[in-house]
Formats: sequence, structure tokens, C-alpha cells
Amino acid sequence: MPGLLLGDEAPNFEAETTQGRIRFHDFLGDSWGILFSHPRDFTPVCTTELGRAAKLAPEFSKRNVKMIALSIDSVQDHLAWSKDINAYNGEQPTQELPFPIIADANRELAVKLGMLDPDEQDKDGIPLTARVVFIFGPDKKLKLSILYPATTGRNFDEILRVVDSLQLTAYKKVATPVDWKPGDSVMVVPTLPDEEAKKLFPKGVFMKDLPSGKKYLRYTPQPE
Ligand code: BEZ
Repeated sequence: MPGLLLGDEAPNFEAETTQGRIRFHDFLGDSWGILFSHPRDFTPVCTTELGRAAKLAPEFSKRNVKMIALSIDSVQDHLAWSKDINAYNGEQPTQELPFPIIADANRELAVKLGMLDPDEQDKDGIPLTARVVFIFGPDKKLKLSILYPATTGRNFDEILRVVDSLQLTAYKKVATPVDWKPGDSVMVVPTLPDEEAKKLFPKGVFMKDLPSGKKYLRYTPQPE
């Protein structure tokens, strides 16, 4: 079954993009990476998504996350569509976006990466690409995967929030609770013994008493 599971290494595919030919691992380098796919160029939901992604590019860059999009059309179409995306954002209608778009006109990558949405088809009855979000760590392993159908636009605020959570786990060994937002307290992971947690989190570890008497609900202020 094609597709990617958490922990899988990113495939080192070669592809044409709006910023030239890439090899995916070289593109990622030592950075985090986000690959987000789109059903088709010149479609309304996709245009709003890429517009928002372009506006948020400085936020991804601040977090050391390289962005790359994919849509099942040609580079030429992507470049023409980019003008519409910039115009939608109220910018000059140039063909420059702050990230490349992969051309996958024959759906080769979309199939390989398990991105097709069987419910949304083109005029010839061929499935379009779903809205996949893959986030890779600097080790090129898949850290997060979200799959939306073609008809639901993504929430890029949520995507930035999960990047913040993934990076806190990677660098500070904490987990983030339900509806966590940057600045909120975070959770000590269950595998960390109390003594080590006290040393690792000098701002303190706060336990919530529970009817079971088990001391697993441990919070600490978000580490710097
Ligand atoms: C869109 O981007 O607007 C779209 C694409 C495919 C199916 C439905 C909506």
C-alpha cells in the first residue's frame, strides 16, 4: 500500500518544481520540512490555502521549516497560477511564491505518497490529490501526517501549532495537552521518572491528584 507512516524516511524523489529540479533530501538539508499537496491548480480552496501559506512563510522560516507544495499540474501551470495566488493576497501578480510547487502532472508522486482522494475526480474520472500535510524532522523522518479530503481547506494556524508542539517534543522532551497553545503549560512524558523530571524542568513539575491515586498528570511551564 503506497503512502507514508510516522517514522518512515522521506522518499528521496526527484521532481520538477517552480524553483527548478530538486532531489527531496537535498532540498530538506538539515531543516524541518512541510510538504502539502493540492488537488489541482486554478481551484478556489487551493488558491486560498496557498495564499495563506505564502503569508505564513516567515513563520515557517522562523521555525526552520522548509515549505514545499505539490499539485498535479505542470510547472508552467503552477507559475501562471502563482500570479493568481499573489493577486488573491493583494500583492503584485508575480509568479514568485516563497516556496516551490512540485509538478506532478502524471500523478506519479501523488500515488507513491498515498495522496489520492477517490471521491474527487477530474473530468475524466481520475482521482484528484487530497490535501496531505507531511512534516519531516531534520532526520528526514515523518513526524506528522494529516489527510484532508479535497473539499476541506486546511487550517494553517493549526499546522504552525503542531510544528511548535513537535519541536518542543524534539528539543525539550515534553508533550502538549489538549488545545495547547504556545506559552501554555506542557506535560511531562510518562516515561520520564519524577527525579529526572525535577532536574530537567527547574521551573517545577505540578501534579494533579486523581481518584486512581496514580501520579501521571504532570505539568511544567513551557521550557524556553
Ligand atoms: C478546490 O481547491 O477548490 C477544490 C479542488 C478539488 C475539489 C474540490 C475543491
